[in-house]
This record gives sequence, structure tokens and C-alpha cells, in this order.
Amino acid sequence: MNNIVVELREVTRRFGNVTAVDRVDLEVQRGAFFSLLGPSGCGKTTTLRMIAGFDEPDSGCIRINGQDITHLAPFQRRVNTVFQNYALFPHMDVFENVAFGLRRRRLDLREIRSKVEWILGLVRLEGMGRRRIQQLSGGQQQRVALARALVNEPEVLLLDEPLAALDQKLRRDMQFELKRLQKELGITFVLVTHDQEEALTMSDAVAVMNAGRVEQVGPPRDIYDHPATRFVADFIGIANFLPVKVRSVQNGRTTVVLSDREILVPSRKGVDAGAHAELSLRPERLRLTRAAESGNCLPGTVVDSVFMGACTRFSVRVSEEHVLLTEQQNQQQGACVDFNPGESVWVNWGPASATLLPLAHSAR
Ligand SMILES: Nc1ncnc2c1ncn2[C@@H]1O[C@H](COP(=O)(O)OP(=O)(O)O)[C@@H](O)[C@H]1O
Ligand SMILES: [Mg+2]
Repeated sequence: MNNIVVELREVTRRFGNVTAVDRVDLEVQRGAFFSLLGPSGCGKTTTLRMIAGFDEPDSGCIRINGQDITHLAPFQRRVNTVFQNYALFPHMDVFENVAFGLRRRRLDLREIRSKVEWILGLVRLEGMGRRRIQQLSGGQQQRVALARALVNEPEVLLLDEPLAALDQKLRRDMQFELKRLQKELGITFVLVTHDQEEALTMSDAVAVMNAGRVEQVGPPRDIYDHPATRFVADFIGIANFLPVKVRSVQNGRTTVVLSDREILVPSRKGVDAGAHAELSLRPERLRLTRAAESGNCLPGTVVDSVFMGACTRFSVRVSEEHVLLTEQQNQQQGACVDFNPGESVWVNWGPASATLLPLAHSAR
């Protein structure tokens, strides 16, 4: 059975001379928590609006359950949207806000009541049906917006930065709630967010967008550990970049030269012997030692240290132009890492811990 619920093929949308969405291909698995992640203006909302039917592509095709819905009206799609500003009806109470879609479908009152009660219970607003919207906190309004969309039992729930207006603590609670709702209902969620931590912690799969294009799609771990582009490596988490020259490629391993030292890295399609490329290194994969070890390593000088509780961040200068950020776990009392500014150290990492990236201008 085909398990893809939402499918975009070569979808493009232009506004004047801005290409907001540029030949985007996406496949969302049924029952997945899927995120569209990227900086402001990269085309996330436009993509979501086209899936919802509030906007149409200039070219390309959108399918839901294999059916071409590119030009169908929103109400003809089994899709509901939670908007960034909630878009609740301020003159109606909670019950009427949630019942709105059901009334439009002309369900009988008993069925409407039972469905609204069911969903209000599920979003933890039981007994609040007669409250006015203005009498609710931001978090409660968010739940009403969710209930109003979910009560229609859509095939896909689209969420556009739904938590952006909430404060930090409430945001975390709602992240947890969203995940719980998605699991309990088994509905496919497509979340738009510019918050990489939100996308990583909540999603089964993430599509990273940049300037209208999808640069990478995959499970959070893959995207973090194996970024496809410099943009992805830089946007997700923290990355150190170092310029290298490729010496040889053999059996899936590539040898590069970095500050006159040979370094072993996983090979990368299209990055061949003689090429100039970049290494991306995550701070927590870099281990500091006082004595040289065998394997990938660079000598350096500690520039500064910041105690972070669970770990300490040391900046290490490895050349005139390059300072690496490293993160050392403070594992046990007594075994705490302690390097002082000015001290000579070695930065070590395993051959699988770096990502080889083609140079940015040749990546596209
Ligand atoms: N209705 C519109 N008219 C003109 N330009 C638009 C319109 N909607 C979006 N854009 C432009 O398209 C680009 C992508 O916007 P958007 O999809 O809202 O990005 P995001 O949601 O990732 O912040 C931006 O450059 C934005 O200014
Ligand atoms: Mg947006």
C-alpha cells in the first residue's frame, strides 16, 4: 500500500520577481509528524497555503492520497489548518468556534455536541465550551484553534508556527501536547517552524528550506549528523567549518589535507581528488586532550572557556583564521575537564564524525 499522504512535485510559486517556492518536491508519510523548517521568508507558509488550498502553484502538482488536488478549493480537501494568529471568531464562544466546521457540514446537533465535547476533552478544555474567546489565555486560545481544526478529523493537519506567540514554558508544554495529540489521533501533522530545536525534537521527518528550495529531507538525526549542504549544517545546531583539499578517495573514505595534516573523512559524492571542499564539525564530537593521539587531530591553543553546567565550551584556535568551538561533557565530579586559556591542546575526532561538504558555490 502506498503510504504517502501528501506529495508535492516540482511545485513553484512566484510573486512578481520573487520565487517564493522553487520546484519543491516533498513526500509526507501517513501518520508522520513532518516539519518544514527554515528561516523567515524561505517559503514555508506559501508551501503550506498551497497544500491547504488557500493559494495555487504557478506550476507543479500537489496530491493527497494520490489524488491531484492542486486546483481544488480548501473545503474539498481533507485538510485543516491551524494559523499562526489562531484566526478564532472573537464574537463566538469556545463551543461555537469548535462547532463551526461541523455546522457547515450540517451534522445534527447531537452529533455536533458529542464531537465538540470529545475534542475539548482531548485538548484539555473540558467544561470550557461557554467561555468567550477573550476570556481565555494565549495557551487556551491555541487549544481552541487546535480543537477547531481537529474536530473535522482531517487526513492532514497543517500548522503554521502555531507556538510562536507563546512564552517559553508554555511553548514546551504545547510541544508535548501536540506530539501527544498527533500520536493519539494518528493524524498526519505538517508543522511549519523556523525553530530548529522545535523541529528536531518533535518530528519524524524534517524538510529544511532555504530561499524557496528544499535543501534536505530526512529524520532529525540524519539531518543533524549528515547535513547535505553548508546551509543545513549551519542552520541546524552549531557547526565549525574548515577549508580542506581532497588528496584521495578510496573505499568510501576520503583523505583530505588540513593545515598540512592528513585527515580521514567519510566520502562524499561529487567531491573528488584535487577538489577544494569544507569540513563540518559538530562541537560535541571534538575531544580535547593534552597529549597527541593517533587518528584525526589538530594542534591548537585554548582561547576561552564557558561553563555550561552539563558541559564546558572551549574555543580552540587551530590556525590564524580558524577557531573551533568544542564541547566537553562534565561527566563526573573530579573527572571534570579543565583547560586554561593559552594552553596547548589537541583537538581529536573520529573519522565518521565529520561531514565533507562541497564548496557553497558549487553545491547548487
Ligand atoms: N502574497 C504575497 N505577495 C508577495 N510576496 C509574497 C506573498 N506571500 C509571500 N511572499 C514572499 O514570498 C517569500 C516567502 O514567503 P513565506 O512563504 O511567507 O515565507 P516563510 O513562511 O518561510 O517566512 C517571501 O519573500 C515573501 O515576501
Ligand atoms: Mg511563515
